[in-house]
Amino acid sequence: MNAKVMACALLILGLFGGLVAMAQEVSPSPRRGQQTFMRVGCHLCHGTNGQGSGAGSALTPNTPSPEAIASFIRTAPGRMPAYPKEVLSDGEIADIVAFLRTVPPPPSVDSIRILRILGPRK
Ligand code: HEC
Repeated sequence: MNAKVMACALLILGLFGGLVAMAQEVSPSPRRGQQTFMRVGCHLCHGTNGQGSGAGSALTPNTPSPEAIASFIRTAPGRMPAYPKEVLSDGEIADIVAFLRTVPPPPSVDSIRILRILGPRK
């Protein structure tokens, strides 16, 4: 292989690597979102799966729109602390939304054996 062909191959490889890196940066990742959700403490109030707790409302299974979530997180007018961009970037919020959307809805009461045995509430 001569030097020109080699240089050309390296250039193409470099460009391809750059494109892959860019694609990874821009597309939201549920896995990263889950890690961020835990790292910045969302789970402390909203539960590890965003199911809600006494300290924070349920964020799943009816996850608000990415825009609604982003604007709420930035301003947080109520009891929730606001997260500025320095702490949580827009990309990280998109990751969190992607994560919340992967959380399945809770099982129906009928699908839980012990509850079927106990029968319907009276
Ligand atoms: C200290 C507890 C606490 C932490 C930490 C917290 N939240 Fe909240 N969050 C709340 C409470 C309480 C509410 C209900 C509204 C209110 O009183 O502020 C809320 C509301 C929300 C809402 C609006 C829900 C709706 O139905 O409109 C979203 C979205 C949200 N939180 C996302 C997050 C995310 C994402 C994080 C992490 C970046 C986070 N929260 C961290 C307590 C918290």
